[in-house]
Amino acid sequence: MPAMRSLSRAVKQVLQKPGCGCQVAVVPVRCLGFSPRQVASDASFHSVSFSESDHPRVLITGGLGQLGVGLAKLLRKRFGKNNVILSDIRKPPDNVFHSGPFIYSDILDYKNLREIVVNNRITWLFHYSALLSAVGEANVPLARSVNITGLHNILDIAAEHSLRLFVPSTIGAFGPTSPRNPTPDLCIQRPRTIYGVSKVHAELMGEYYHYRYGLDFRCLRYPGIISADSQPGGGTTDYAVQIFHDAMKTGKFQCNLKPDTRLPMMYIDDCLRATLEIMEAPAEGLSMRTYNISALSFTPEELVQEVQKHIPELEVSYKVDAVRQAIADSWPMIFDDSNARQDWGWKHDYDLPDLVNTMFTFLDSTRSISRVAQVN
Ligand SMILES: NC(=O)c1ccc[n+]([C@@H]2O[C@H](COP(=O)([O-])OP(=O)(O)OC[C@H]3O[C@@H](n4cnc5c(N)ncnc54)[C@H](O)[C@@H]3O)[C@@H](O)[C@H]2O)c1
Repeated sequence: MPAMRSLSRAVKQVLQKPGCGCQVAVVPVRCLGFSPRQVASDASFHSVSFSESDHPRVLITGGLGQLGVGLAKLLRKRFGKNNVILSDIRKPPDNVFHSGPFIYSDILDYKNLREIVVNNRITWLFHYSALLSAVGEANVPLARSVNITGLHNILDIAAEHSLRLFVPSTIGAFGPTSPRNPTPDLCIQRPRTIYGVSKVHAELMGEYYHYRYGLDFRCLRYPGIISADSQPGGGTTDYAVQIFHDAMKTGKFQCNLKPDTRLPMMYIDDCLRATLEIMEAPAEGLSMRTYNISALSFTPEELVQEVQKHIPELEVSYKVDAVRQAIADSWPMIFDDSNARQDWGWKHDYDLPDLVNTMFTFLDSTRSISRVAQVN
């Protein structure tokens, strides 16, 4: 546990960081008059947030959603099973519980979060807890609390303990007044969902903590993410996952967006690799702290055509959900990620035919496994 000693009672404390022998100046924020918590004050210390010869000690919040389990798998391969702790407020399924460390963590409980970070000597935090766009509109007070109050807890803990912090943002951080085709990194951001507003807030607060306190904040704006082995959590792009399951199970698919709704999308492996790459990128190469990342951009109609190459008998109908359609119509159609490509070498692997092939290969293999299990 970090040993703290006082240099000046009123203004400064010095944090002796474990393992690296370096000292970090910390200004109690109550002295600055806007929060009772402590945050680091030295903008140059983020490069020593962990010893480069050691693996980072990782915490993932909200880890039982669509993306967290896959991220844990990738990070455990790279940093070792026991160096990556998955956390959530839900009960993990057996396979997840037995695949590596899991801990209960409610991001609204600041003390509990701090205890986990201190006791496990966490150095990197991936903050995945959130209410997504469609579920956020259905429960605005909860979305505000989890996505904004929860983020404040994460930022303070990360700054106080010199963590490298990843917070995902989204195409939903843009709105109807943003340029939509293409959408650059820096442009008007006036989203009209609580999800989008909370993500713009996260981008700005993270960057503010970076410039003000030296927090090593890194953020990617994800497109809609498509995965085979995990269910989407209530976003506007969920249709692009659902179509595969319905095509395999019933041969019928009802789409809740109009056929010509174009949105940026990405296969989960590209998304998780990008997340690891931005966290490993040397700080000097990052000209920004929040980047768009992109891979594909398609409409339901185009996805259906590609899916029908595998299942020609698939029957598709459209029953538009007004809330989701209004959200989709305000989001980027094509995402400009040229800064990510230039600064830290971002490059996607999966185009639309690859993605559709991979989804069917995965779903086919799990179907044969469950058939074998039933026979046995
Ligand atoms: N999946 C996508 O297409 C997509 C796209 C853009 C951005 N993102 C972002 O990536 C992150 C992960 O997305 P996801 O799809 O896995 O989300 P998800 O909705 O599937 O999972 C979110 C998790 O947060 C947990 N959670 C809710 N309240 C919590 C609390 N108080 N404390 C701790 N955990 C809590 C939930 O139990 C859930 O497991 C989110 O921040 C999301 O905004 C996702």
